[in-house]
Amino acid sequence: MQRSSTSAASLHGLWSTRLAFILAATGSAVGLGNIWGFPYKAGANGGGAFVLIYLGCVLLIGLPILIAEITLGRKGRSSPITTMATIARRENRSPAWALVGAMGVLCGVLILSFYSVVAGWTLEYLQLAISGGLNGLNKERAVALLEGENGILASPTRQVIWHSVFMILTALIVGRGVKQGLESAVKLLMPMLAIMLVGMAIYSLTLPGAGEGLRFLFKPDFSELKTAGVLAAMGQAFFSLSLGMGAIMAYGAYLPRDVSIPKTAAIVAGFDTSVALLAGIAIFPIVYTYGLEPGSGPGLVFVTLPLAFAQSPIGQFLACVFFLLLFTAALTSALSLMEPATAWLVEKTKMDRFEIALGLGFVIWLIGIPSALAYNVLSGATLFDKPILDLVDGLTTNIMLPLGGLFIALFVGWKISKANLQNELHGFSARSYTVWLWLVRVVAPAAIVFIFLQEIGLLNFS
Ligand code: PFF
Repeated sequence: MQRSSTSAASLHGLWSTRLAFILAATGSAVGLGNIWGFPYKAGANGGGAFVLIYLGCVLLIGLPILIAEITLGRKGRSSPITTMATIARRENRSPAWALVGAMGVLCGVLILSFYSVVAGWTLEYLQLAISGGLNGLNKERAVALLEGENGILASPTRQVIWHSVFMILTALIVGRGVKQGLESAVKLLMPMLAIMLVGMAIYSLTLPGAGEGLRFLFKPDFSELKTAGVLAAMGQAFFSLSLGMGAIMAYGAYLPRDVSIPKTAAIVAGFDTSVALLAGIAIFPIVYTYGLEPGSGPGLVFVTLPLAFAQSPIGQFLACVFFLLLFTAALTSALSLMEPATAWLVEKTKMDRFEIALGLGFVIWLIGIPSALAYNVLSGATLFDKPILDLVDGLTTNIMLPLGGLFIALFVGWKISKANLQNELHGFSARSYTVWLWLVRVVAPAAIVFIFLQEIGLLNFS
């Protein structure tokens, strides 16, 4: 990592190379959202039509905003709040734009509070895999392990313990500085995860339910898609690309000036989307082969993949490797969820980063406790029929992230002078720049507002 003494980056340091940034941003993007969230949300929202809308959102909303967020980060060279405030001041815009950064910081804290609980499930499965507890599973036992009377979800103690372990690890790493260690860890683990997913997808394609699984995933049936599903697809695109809350803005702050932002963004988005699709291709053939319910919800990946591992003579080994990789993918995403708040507190208080990370980690841990108890002690405490974890997920993923993205798009599209923008976006051809500019100015904001209005019932096209 090299040091820059010219700006706020001197407080946090810079990525050493373009590859380091790509790896860190990919580490942030690829996580539970791809392997846990995407398949279960696609399953719950009718499959192919959801996937198609998701891909449209990635291309027309996600990628343009990804470029916008990295650009803001590199311009501001600070935490999202300070970055938004600095750029607004330089461009003679209202200081209120800093609120976009503030909402992002809060959103990151809220997401991490439940993300850590789900990451805890991966640790429980890792431990089960190591101790042989996943060997010889059949469908009934696979379901019971997660949702049964003695299953993981029913145990407040186990969930709180794993949630604590995950939060402690996250806080310790963020405390040491996200870049140290992250670069090397991600360099090795992301390709491993991709290779393993390709292997699992190939295996799934040999199963009797492969045809039905693929049809479900890729053949759009719009009669199955509700407005809530469209909103979920857009939210999932934001969540999966780590957009709308400043995580990528915070990482962009450490990006050296000579790196081409558009190219880098396209690589990150391409990798992230491939991993999500691969997870879907691995999971749905298993769903149909074993007669499981595609719309069964958040437990989908934890029931299907162990079932497939149990069929292999080296299943125990594969299960250990897979859950270790999934846990690592979750951890690298968690670091980026905590980074905006940490970077901001470091700037504000000038206190030691390590102490800030531990304190903040404790607060996030506390906020996450209701999510850890959502399916057991607090299972009666639902709103709109949803448990607490699903509520926090829905509020942040489907509302706060797209709202943050909307403001980021409008700010970059309309409030920054053209000369300043072009100067930062040196990797673009003139044509692609114009296309991108109109995507962030009009297409992405209009699509987000349209989907919001549909959801609250003000427009009705379905
Ligand atoms: N993109 C991560 C995932 O797909 O698991 C989650 C995430 C990280 C969301 C960072 C938002 C964020 F800012």
